[in-house]
Amino acid sequence: MSGRLQAKVALVTGAASGIGAAVAAMMAAEGAVAIGADLAAPPGGIVLDVTDEAQWDAGIAGILAAHGRLDILVNNAGIGFSRLVTEMTLAEWRRVQAVNLDSVFLGCRAAFRVMKDQPGGGAIVNVSSILGLVGQPETSAYSAAKGGVTLLTKSLALEAAQNGWPIRVNSVHPAYVQTAMIDQAVARAGDPDRFRRHLERIQPVGRMATPDEIAAGIVFLASDEASFVTGTQLAVDGGMTAR
Ligand code: NAI
Repeated sequence: MSGRLQAKVALVTGAASGIGAAVAAMMAAEGAVAIGADLAAPPGGIVLDVTDEAQWDAGIAGILAAHGRLDILVNNAGIGFSRLVTEMTLAEWRRVQAVNLDSVFLGCRAAFRVMKDQPGGGAIVNVSSILGLVGQPETSAYSAAKGGVTLLTKSLALEAAQNGWPIRVNSVHPAYVQTAMIDQAVARAGDPDRFRRHLERIQPVGRMATPDEIAAGIVFLASDEASFVTGTQLAVDGGMTAR
């Protein structure tokens, strides 16, 4: 299918790599003006450190100046982090919250301010994780941030509906996806091959997802096909949270 996002203006954070790059490409293929953002600008995109309030203001202002509207925001940028709680510093904890949760608040706030009064409203998709739905040892900081994204999403969906603002807010929850984030975790493991096989085996379908498989769920939620879908959590996880 193509043209599902025809003429929509979309901002995708963390678009230089992995899931974000796949989302930006798929949205462009569906007819959107897809603007990727990252710490270093992706091709045709913008520089936006998602932890920086002033950079959000400047980034959104630039998009409005160039395109006149913002229809879709995908809050995808994030970092992985694993540490025993007894060994975690407060600075590490705060960094994970800043990149993975504060950023989503900043993005949603900026988008709400534009979309609430804009004809046609808008759609926001927040990339959480299965670790925003269930716990796991040694990922407490990451899970706390991603769980925060889950409930931030639900609360903002209800806030939009209550105020009559035509904004849908949903979250996507991938299991393990073949991206740089996973490559780095595998490389850090004592036995990388064994750890990679472990990540594949713990998913009921026996493999990791491709970035495109996650992007497909995000594109659906961002599109008008999901016009009655808000405040939901789409697990794209090979069955991992089904058991
Ligand atoms: P990735 O490491 O391939 O890409 C993440 C991108 O975010 C990078 O381009 C990076 O430069 C960017 N980024 C990091 N900090 C940033 C900041 N402060 N401002 C702007 N951009 C920043 O990772 P991947 O796997 O594509 O992850 C995307 C999202 O999916 C993340 O939120 C991650 O937590 C989530 N996720 C990933 C899973 C996986 O197995 N790969 C599983 C579940 C969720």
